[in-house]
Amino acid sequence: MCSQITEIVAIDGPVGAGKSSVGRRVAEILGFAYLDTGAMYRAATWWAIENGADLDAPEALAAITQLMPLHMTDHNGELRVFVGSQDITEAIRTPEITRQIYKLDHVAGVRDHLVTLQRAFGAQQPTVADGRDMGTVVFPKARWKVYLDASLEERARRRAAQLAEKGVHVDLAALRKEIEDRDRKSMTRAVSPLRKAPEARVLDTTRLTFDQAVDAIVGFVREAS
Ligand code: DC
Repeated sequence: MCSQITEIVAIDGPVGAGKSSVGRRVAEILGFAYLDTGAMYRAATWWAIENGADLDAPEALAAITQLMPLHMTDHNGELRVFVGSQDITEAIRTPEITRQIYKLDHVAGVRDHLVTLQRAFGAQQPTVADGRDMGTVVFPKARWKVYLDASLEERARRRAAQLAEKGVHVDLAALRKEIEDRDRKSMTRAVSPLRKAPEARVLDTTRLTFDQAVDAIVGFVREAS
């Protein structure tokens, strides 16, 4: 199956490097679909909690994930995430979900199911997919691979600014520590750790504006097409 998947822009990178916002805009410009795989792990975590699953029981988590009636839509350029008819777009972004996600994201049975859904999505249309294992595991034959990075300081600063826009004021040092901790967990887990695919183009956005980061990826895709 993987060998047929090529029209994919695979974007991986650590927390807060801009994968989702940049990826979404790149998809829009290229006329590709956009797949936020982090939202899928968030939805699986929400669903497991909602169903009272034991978050320390990998088999139960794998089984419950397979029953999740997940679907995602593009609503006026905005991703909406549904489980059945329930819109959980906002519910999956809470600190509680972010904290508990590590109970699921290293479980092979959970990942296998979500990866199957991700590949099916990518097989249907040209896609920009962002996550932690897009170029390494999910779409190893992706035609374009990007590893989006930025300094820890800058990623924390951007996240704090995003939260401030929503009226939430956080301690920058605590936020930096939380981001560092999440990165360490993603990079050191045994299953599908966050790694740069050897052939991925590294884009350090520390000193780039949003538009410059978008242009760099669009340029890369066009030049390598
Ligand atoms: O991109 P995000 O912060 O919304 O992702 C939420 C979590 O899901 C993140 O902490 C790591 C995990 N994740 C993953 O393990 N594999 C992916 N392809 C995407 C996200």
